[in-house]
Amino acid sequence: MRDDAHFVARSARGLEPQLAAEILQRELGSITAVGHRSVHFRAWRPYDTGVTGLRTADDVFLLAARGRDVGTRKSGVPGLTELASKTDSARLIQHRNTLLGNTVKPPGLEVSASFLGRRSFNRYDVEDAVGNALAARLKVPYHPRRTKGAPPPDYASWRLTLDGTEATLMLRITPRPLHRRPYKQATVRGTLHPPLAAAMTRLADIGRGHTVLDPCCGAGTVLIEAALAHPEAGQYRGYDIDETALKAASANKRMAAAVRIHLERADAGRLPLPDGTVDRIVCNPPWGTQVEAKARMAKAPAAWWRELHRLLTPTGTAVLLLPTPTPLLPALQAGLLPTHTQRIHLSGTPTYLIKLEPGNPR
Ligand SMILES: C[S@@+](CC[C@H](N)C(=O)[O-])C[C@H]1O[C@@H](n2cnc3c(N)ncnc32)[C@H](O)[C@@H]1O
Repeated sequence: MRDDAHFVARSARGLEPQLAAEILQRELGSITAVGHRSVHFRAWRPYDTGVTGLRTADDVFLLAARGRDVGTRKSGVPGLTELASKTDSARLIQHRNTLLGNTVKPPGLEVSASFLGRRSFNRYDVEDAVGNALAARLKVPYHPRRTKGAPPPDYASWRLTLDGTEATLMLRITPRPLHRRPYKQATVRGTLHPPLAAAMTRLADIGRGHTVLDPCCGAGTVLIEAALAHPEAGQYRGYDIDETALKAASANKRMAAAVRIHLERADAGRLPLPDGTVDRIVCNPPWGTQVEAKARMAKAPAAWWRELHRLLTPTGTAVLLLPTPTPLLPALQAGLLPTHTQRIHLSGTPTYLIKLEPGNPR
């Protein structure tokens, strides 16, 4: 077996910096390129299974081949089969199996393709061209998504992206995408994408003994991601006005075995906690398009910001995901100073990751 490996981790658009930082912090390898929703890295230990534990990644792949993007016309699509012929596909399958501790060769393959910009071909044209070429090399059946829908779970998943400059062919390592967390069995409307929750908890810089609060916890994604990444924190507390959301959070908490999360029904506009006792607040409040704010948060939104300021310790931090950066004026009036703003795209919709620290109220 060759002893080098080049990986590609993919993320939501805008989270590439957090993903690159996580790769470096976990000492998985050297970053070789950062692109649209992707971070390429050369592994320091090619068979280190830590690559499959990346929490801010949507998914992680072995890099198979790179070439030029074939442009906008359908006549360019057959040119993509060159990527399949450049690929040492049998070696990659073997590498993937070693990472998974598996010896069974996948009985077939599927390809999932995406591209940036308008094209006169569709994703299935690309998938079929590359899938048939890979299947001929590996001597296994190709499963076309165009006609057959979802592939059998034991098939190898290949991924192809066209970013306007480069075509990249990759082999997915894990049977399911990394963003599908086994603990997340129950969801609520507006529930958070787990890698984004993981990125928020990284930004919050949770430390030993910290009290961490999500005042509108929904299905508990933020607190579970935080508790899994930072078991050294002192306590995790989640509140929500909605009993159904709390039931979902309890079910997910049990699945994650994240037992130290305390869940309780309360209005986030007036929480049953003493002044200055929370070190970290991490939350996506219900001010998006999907979920309505209720009770005091709806009646007096400005009071919510004062509540955050009241709860935080003088060295505390709040990390929030907001649909626009505009509610920052009431935050400033409540004495919360923004120290970081970052635009993220989730399914094409921009949202803002904002970090606030307490100053003096105006
Ligand atoms: C965007 S969702 C949070 C999703 C959560 N982060 C997750 O991953 O599932 C917002 C939550 O705020 C809750 N909510 C609305 N008004 C509230 C209030 N006044 N106090 C506490 N929670 C409230 C909703 O019930 C909803 O669960």
